[in-house]
Amino acid sequence: MVGLVLLLLATGLVGTLGHYGNLGHSGHLIAGLSVVVLVLISAGSSTLISPQQPWAYAVHVGTNIALFVGFTWVSLTGWEVVQKYLP
Ligand code: HEM
Ligand code: HEM
Repeated sequence: MVGLVLLLLATGLVGTLGHYGNLGHSGHLIAGLSVVVLVLISAGSSTLISPQQPWAYAVHVGTNIALFVGFTWVSLTGWEVVQKYLP
């Protein structure tokens, strides 16, 4: 999941920079960055989960609930920008 999200981030950034030379054409940029940050926090906190560190469960599950909203958001805004390239 971390790998896939970073791959999509790289493709999105490189593709958009190559096409326009700059970023920030829509809410898709902030949605993409949010999802990447959330995935990194979720994966990072998962490695800390243990009975000695119960707060890590809360961070892991909390970021995953936020990710549910985040993935929906990045998919919808991604689909919106796709419309620009369709005939
Ligand atoms: C975790 C998933 C994703 C991440 C992290 C991500 C990230 C990004 C980023 C950072 C950009 C540059 C945006 C800008 O500067 O305005 C971008 C562009 C783009 N992404 Fe994504 N993206 C993701 C998923 C998707 C999906 C699911 C779609 C299609 C349904 C999509 C379609 C596009 C398109 C078409 C562009 C070009 C934007 C434009 O022309 O304004 N992306 N993406
Ligand atoms: C970023 C990738 C992820 C990694 C590396 C990861 C890894 C882990 C690990 C190592 C644990 C501790 C298991 C244990 O010893 O009890 C855990 C717990 C948990 N994860 Fe994830 N996870 C990821 C994503 C997700 C996602 C996307 C969801 C939800 C859709 C999820 C839901 C949960 C839940 C509910 C628990 C608590 C399980 C329990 O009560 O024992 N995780 N995760």
